Amino acid sequence: MRIVAANWKMNLRCKSAVGLASRLRADGRSCWLFPAFPLLVPVAQVIAGSGLVLGAQDVSPEQDGAFTGEVSGEQLKDAGCELVLIGHSERRHGHGERHPLLVRKLKRAAECGLKTVYCVGETLPERQAGRAETVVGEQLGSLAKLSDSEKAQVAAVAYEPVWAIGTGENATPAQAHEMHALLRQSLERMGMKVPLLYGGSVKPENAGELLAQPHVEGLLVGGASLEYESLAAIDNAAREA
Ligand code: PGA
Repeated sequence: MRIVAANWKMNLRCKSAVGLASRLRADGRSCWLFPAFPLLVPVAQVIAGSGLVLGAQDVSPEQDGAFTGEVSGEQLKDAGCELVLIGHSERRHGHGERHPLLVRKLKRAAECGLKTVYCVGETLPERQAGRAETVVGEQLGSLAKLSDSEKAQVAAVAYEPVWAIGTGENATPAQAHEMHALLRQSLERMGMKVPLLYGGSVKPENAGELLAQPHVEGLLVGGASLEYESLAAIDNAAREA
């Protein structure tokens, strides 16, 4: 069975998030859910004791303290999180998050006992310039800065080409395969054996063909994870893969 991770981004409200989580729970699903911060506790309450796993979309590199607007790993654990996304392109490009900060976040999350989902992906100009593999390789390099015990906290690496996120244009299965094969090799060189997720305009219509690729062990889904029907259809494809 493959991993289906739902990145709800800055969407949903308490009622809709709880409603969606309740339906997933009633189905006996085991997706990873990444709600916005204020929705973590209500969703945690609904999914307690189920196969669904709770994660946050970001974590502060700092410990509890005077950091207005930040959320610490301890607070995320307290809210019921087991996972946290790090390096999502909307953080890299929208908030200028780069290698040194991402390494600090990876280390901080591990220190708090949170598992991490580390995201990498090239922009369209980078792909057009033939630099996709170099860029993704460099981004993956942040993981080389982790100790063995910190590496053990990495639950998955997600390849999300920036040009495919929220655009409706997913990578072709061949493009996903090519990058995932490279990621698998690089991770092996780092002594890491973690599942690889693909993300970027995943929909019920393309989930099956993406999951059919040898190194695609799961999907990170944004827009299509906000509606029960489409998320359930993607999860069904993952169960069948
Ligand atoms: P999308 O987002 O499925 O809406 O393209 C994926 C993501 O950013 O994780």
